[in-house]
Amino acid sequence: MAIEEHILTFKNVSFAYQKNEPILQEISFSLQKGEKVMIVGENGAGKTTLLKLLCHQIYPTKGTITLFGHLLNEKNSPTHSHKELSYVPQIQMQSEIATQVEESVLLGLYGKNFSYLKRSSKQDRRKAVEALEMVGMSDYSHRDLRALSGGQRQKVAIARAIIRSPSLLLLDEPTTYLDKESKKEIVELIERLQKELQFTMLIISHDTLHLEYVQRVFLLENHTLIERHIS
Ligand SMILES: Nc1ncnc2c1ncn2[C@@H]1O[C@H](COP(=O)(O)OP(=O)(O)OP(=O)(O)O)[C@@H](O)[C@H]1O
Ligand SMILES: [Mg+2]
Repeated sequence: MAIEEHILTFKNVSFAYQKNEPILQEISFSLQKGEKVMIVGENGAGKTTLLKLLCHQIYPTKGTITLFGHLLNEKNSPTHSHKELSYVPQIQMQSEIATQVEESVLLGLYGKNFSYLKRSSKQDRRKAVEALEMVGMSDYSHRDLRALSGGQRQKVAIARAIIRSPSLLLLDEPTTYLDKESKKEIVELIERLQKELQFTMLIISHDTLHLEYVQRVFLLENHTLIERHIS
């Protein structure tokens, strides 16, 4: 029998932004290597908060989170575990200034082998081109990010995430604000990329289209996470 390999474990995790106003309470769950898991829940339930805990933006007020075998806390440097992690945030940053699509994808390598004080290498640029090819956006690599549609920008955000070759991909509502056709396109893209790149995936979405390929679904309600059967 294959040995289960936990990528991520939450053990009795609680979190509050303000004292006496709990957002998450006693959350326990784990993800195994290669799993595709979806989290649903009402607006304000704490879904994005849960992902922020994984990205070293905030820390549990109680309990422990282990990511790739490393305990996440304020004292632990995020560098090791975070090289393996990519995050597609809920709201794509709107650039005020002209940013080339390819440049914005390269930023995904930040903390991996990119720094603001280093010129990007040929190899990094090659990776950006490949990532844009994988999401079907290579024709747009020299365009201004601000001139893209919402769906196209979402594809670029996904390219920015996969350029890191993540072991774990977190996606926060990647299809919100998109029309029906674009939603379908993005869902199919995510499903295809997961098959090709084999990352473990945690996706937050209200979109039932994802139910076609995810293996487990959790509902975040009343500050806690409950597993639901997919029917
Ligand atoms: N930085 C913050 N400081 C204080 N409260 C916050 C902060 N960020 C979020 N909250 C509050 O925490 C709660 C959970 O927010 P969160 O963004 O995690 O919800 P969500 O489930 O992702 O909602 P949505 O579906 O609307 O994206 C909300 O009540 C929100 O107002
Ligand atoms: Mg959210």
